Amino acid sequence: MANIRVSHLVKQFAEKAAVNDISFDLGEHEFLVLVGPSGCGKTTTLRMLAGLEQASGGEIYFGGRRVNDIRPSDRNVAMVFQDYAVFPHLTVFENIAYGLRARRAQSKLIKERVVKAATAFRIDHLLYRKPRQLSGGERQRVALSRAMVRDADLYLYDEPLANLDAQLRHQAREDIMALHHEKQSPSVYVTHDQSEAMAMGDRIAVMRAGKIEQIGTGAQLYERPTNLFVAYFIGTPSINLFDVVVERAPEGLRVRNAAFDLLLPPETAHRLEKYAGKPVKMGIRPEDLHVPRLAPFEVTENNQFQGVINVIEPSSTGASVYLSTLEEKAQDFTATFRTRIPSTYIGREIPLAVHLQKAHFFDAETEQSILAE
Ligand SMILES: Nc1ncnc2c1ncn2[C@@H]1O[C@H](COP(=O)(O)OP(=O)(O)OP(=O)(O)O)[C@@H](O)[C@H]1O
Ligand SMILES: [Mg+2]
Repeated sequence: MANIRVSHLVKQFAEKAAVNDISFDLGEHEFLVLVGPSGCGKTTTLRMLAGLEQASGGEIYFGGRRVNDIRPSDRNVAMVFQDYAVFPHLTVFENIAYGLRARRAQSKLIKERVVKAATAFRIDHLLYRKPRQLSGGERQRVALSRAMVRDADLYLYDEPLANLDAQLRHQAREDIMALHHEKQSPSVYVTHDQSEAMAMGDRIAVMRAGKIEQIGTGAQLYERPTNLFVAYFIGTPSINLFDVVVERAPEGLRVRNAAFDLLLPPETAHRLEKYAGKPVKMGIRPEDLHVPRLAPFEVTENNQFQGVINVIEPSSTGASVYLSTLEEKAQDFTATFRTRIPSTYIGREIPLAVHLQKAHFFDAETEQSILAE
């Protein structure tokens, strides 16, 4: 299957644009994940790709062919719906077989494929039940199996794992990826869980209010977010944001607020030169705050500040530590350490070394990244 191309796509509902001028290309074997908060236009985008919703503007191409006016049944797209839309009067077997029967596949092939897909999603023991005899998670796996039995040119998934418990979710995620590698067809997968997006997507498109804010690999979004929204949306725990003022000092540029006074590394200072004397927003990811003696860089008076520990959450690799700065109007922030911190540290003041090479800076007004410019 050839590339999919979406160009300046718009969907207007009455006076509201649910999708407002989005463009992206989808590689031949690519798994693209759309993430974004509720109502940002993810489902509407998928529905336009499937042909279930007519675009109000822009173009959709499947391998160079404009498909805007092609009916859904002629687009050869398989979609897993957010509400998993299974047919209540059909057995699990017939639900999964539905798309194949509609395409008049041979019954031997139908049986083979249905059993294979049902086995992959671990519902092969439920083939002769009706949907009302299934749990929500099982129904969702029927919907997944139904999409996966087909040889579609494009697979669309609308939050297919939302009703599964953590373990099943993980398993279903792996099953989807395994089937994707087998089918090799392009896929668009919607979720509002950024860690799922990071785990599954070849690339991720972060959406907000009908627009794509940034599209790129997980690493690109994480390391070089183009704006504050993307920086905050990608990564758990979320990036820490501090209001600071950029100040010129004899030794270079410093960023200051009531809680700290840090000297910027030369590369960063160079990019922030024109902000001297102005407020900016500084973002520091929780893992870029370190216990000084374990920091992977030289710690001086110029790259550390003090915080008081409020909560310690042990994790498999160390701990997430929730702290506050020390000034009167204390600000909460998070640090993740690769070392265990005993609970006796709660309430204690500790120094934090800041990995300034990895800090992010955003324009206080536009919220665009200053480093990505
Ligand atoms: N048929 C419709 N008529 C009018 N407005 C609609 C219609 N479908 C969606 N919308 C609106 O368009 C916007 C985008 O909806 P959409 O379902 O695409 O969001 P979403 O990103 O999938 O959200 P969620 O994560 O909650 O599923 C919402 O504000 C929604 O209310
Ligand atoms: Mg939706």
